[in-house]
Amino acid sequence: MVQEVLDYLALVHAGPEALVVDGTVGAGGHAAALLDARVDVRLLGLDRDPAILEHARTRLARFGERAQLVHASYAELPGVLEAEALPAPAGVLLDLGVSSLQLDDMSRGFSFRGSDEIPDMRFDATGEELTAQDLLNHADERELARILHEFGEEPRARAVARAIVRARPIRSIGQLRDVARRSALRVKRIDPATRTFQALRIAVNDELRHLERGLRAALGCLAPGGRLVVLCFQSGEERLVKDAFREVQRAGRGRILTKKPVRATAQEVRRNPRARPTRLRAFEVEVGA
Ligand SMILES: C[S@@+](CC[C@H](N)C(=O)[O-])C[C@H]1O[C@@H](n2cnc3c(N)ncnc32)[C@H](O)[C@@H]1O
Repeated sequence: MVQEVLDYLALVHAGPEALVVDGTVGAGGHAAALLDARVDVRLLGLDRDPAILEHARTRLARFGERAQLVHASYAELPGVLEAEALPAPAGVLLDLGVSSLQLDDMSRGFSFRGSDEIPDMRFDATGEELTAQDLLNHADERELARILHEFGEEPRARAVARAIVRARPIRSIGQLRDVARRSALRVKRIDPATRTFQALRIAVNDELRHLERGLRAALGCLAPGGRLVVLCFQSGEERLVKDAFREVQRAGRGRILTKKPVRATAQEVRRNPRARPTRLRAFEVEVGA
C-alpha cells in the first residue's frame, strides 16, 4: 500500500530537511518510495532484525546520508532520536508484522513452507533468547491455547495446543506444520497452519507489547502537525492502534484521519495476495501541540 502510505503521511507541514521515521524499515521498499517522493526529507529507518537491516542498507545506499539506519525496536524511538541528535519527526510509519524476506529465508523458521529447520522465529537472535521451539516444548497447554487464540485467532486453539503437547518434542518446521494442519480449522484458500505460525511469531517477539509502547512513543515525539501511519495485519494490533488514537484524540492532542481503516485495493491484492488482510490507520498530531 505504498501510494496510500505516501498520501496519508502527506508531510504537508514538513519543511525542507524534515525527518521521517520508518519504524519497520524491512527491505526498505516504503523507505525508498518516501525518499524518492520527497527529495528534501531525511529518513531514519529502524528494524529489530539486524539481518533485514543489511538488506535495507544496500537498497537505500543510493540515498547517501539522507537515509540513516539503526538496529532498534520502534518502541525505543525517543531514545534513538536523542542518541542520534535528531529532531522531532514530521511522520512515522509502522508497517507491522513480518517481511517477505524473513518469510522466504527458511532458516529463520517463520514460514510453514520450510522442512527440517528449527522453529526459531526470533526477529533478533542477537538480543532475545526465547525461541518458538522453547514455547512449543515447554509452555503448558493452556498457555499455548491462549497464544493460538489471542495472536492467531485460531478457532480450534485448544485442539491445536493439545496436538502440540502430544507431539512433543517438536524439533522441525515440517513437524509443526503437520501437527497444525491436522488439528487447526480448515478454511478455504488459507493453509490451516498459517494461524499457528503467526501466533507463535507474535508471542516469541512480544509484538503487541512493543506495539503498545511504540504507539505511545511515536505519538509522543511527533512534531506539531506530524502524522503516524500504521499498517496492521491482525485484530490485536488493530485494537491497540484504535485505542491509542482515540485516547490521544480525546485528550485534544490531534485527530484520527481514517474513520474506517483503509484496505488494499482489489488490484493490489491481485498483484500481492499478502496485502489482503492489511488495514491502514492514520493520525495527525495537533499543529499547536
Ligand atoms: C512488514 S515488514 C516491513 C516492510 C517494509 N515496510 C518494506 O517496505 O520493505 C515488518 C518489519 O518490521 C520489523 N519489526 C517487527 N517488529 C519491530 C519492532 N518492534 N521494531 C522495529 N522493527 C520491527 C520486522 O523485522 C520486519 O522487517
